[in-house]
Amino acid sequence: MKNDAIGVFDSGLGGLTAVKELNAILPHENIIYFGDTARIPYGGRSPETVMRYAKEDAAFLRQHAVKMIIAACGTVSSVVGDCPFIIDMPFTGVVCPTVRTAVKETHNGKIGVIGTLATVRSGSYEKEISRLDPNIVVTAQSCPMFVHLVENGYTDFENPVTRLIAEEYLTPVREAGVDTLILGCTHYPVIRDIIADLMGDGVKLISSGAEAAKYARCCLEEQDLLADRETDGENTYYVSDSTEQFVENAGHFLEQNVVGKVFRCSLQ
Ligand code: DGL
Repeated sequence: MKNDAIGVFDSGLGGLTAVKELNAILPHENIIYFGDTARIPYGGRSPETVMRYAKEDAAFLRQHAVKMIIAACGTVSSVVGDCPFIIDMPFTGVVCPTVRTAVKETHNGKIGVIGTLATVRSGSYEKEISRLDPNIVVTAQSCPMFVHLVENGYTDFENPVTRLIAEEYLTPVREAGVDTLILGCTHYPVIRDIIADLMGDGVKLISSGAEAAKYARCCLEEQDLLADRETDGENTYYVSDSTEQFVENAGHFLEQNVVGKVFRCSLQ
């Protein structure tokens, strides 16, 4: 069991921001990643559809030897919460770990949240923040175009299209005077530099994928489930659409070329 893999899923490539952190902090772990690239985006879909997709994604990972599952997707974590269909192994989404860090980081009690439409509509981050500290003021903003921009590689710092759209989305959050901004969708760290530039120097950005990865390490430590191999772990990637497209874009998320096997799979 200890040397089983950590299973990570997302609607597409965003969950790779969690994989990048896992590789850095848990280098001996094997990781099995599933990106549902054939059905992305999840962010504009109904809660019923997101729930069905999340169940199928988790079921796919469970066909492999996994000891923990991470829903590295802000939309799934927001809509489905604690994934009640995963009860026999450790599980985490991104919302709770990210909120815990953001609440610790804020000095002025004003936190911004950016995410998909479904995430913002769910109010998941606000609910969790107010559970931890009801005095914190939250400004939430959906950024529906970001996922498309990121999945299509519009990520360079000077990209005029991404900058124009980001300016439109981020202006109300900046004007609310937040000192901490939750990147509530795991795709957004890829355009972190643009977001940081537009938000200004004093604003701390929190990556939901990275926070979920750190929390996963704590869970595995607590349950004595960390791998005991001496060698580096391996990453194996499954996607429901083109592997070529995945390999081309994954480098933006991992900040290095994909190392590991990449397979196309079908959920049916
Ligand atoms: N990475 C997903 C999230 O964190 C992307 C959302 C989508 O598929 O629209 O919400």
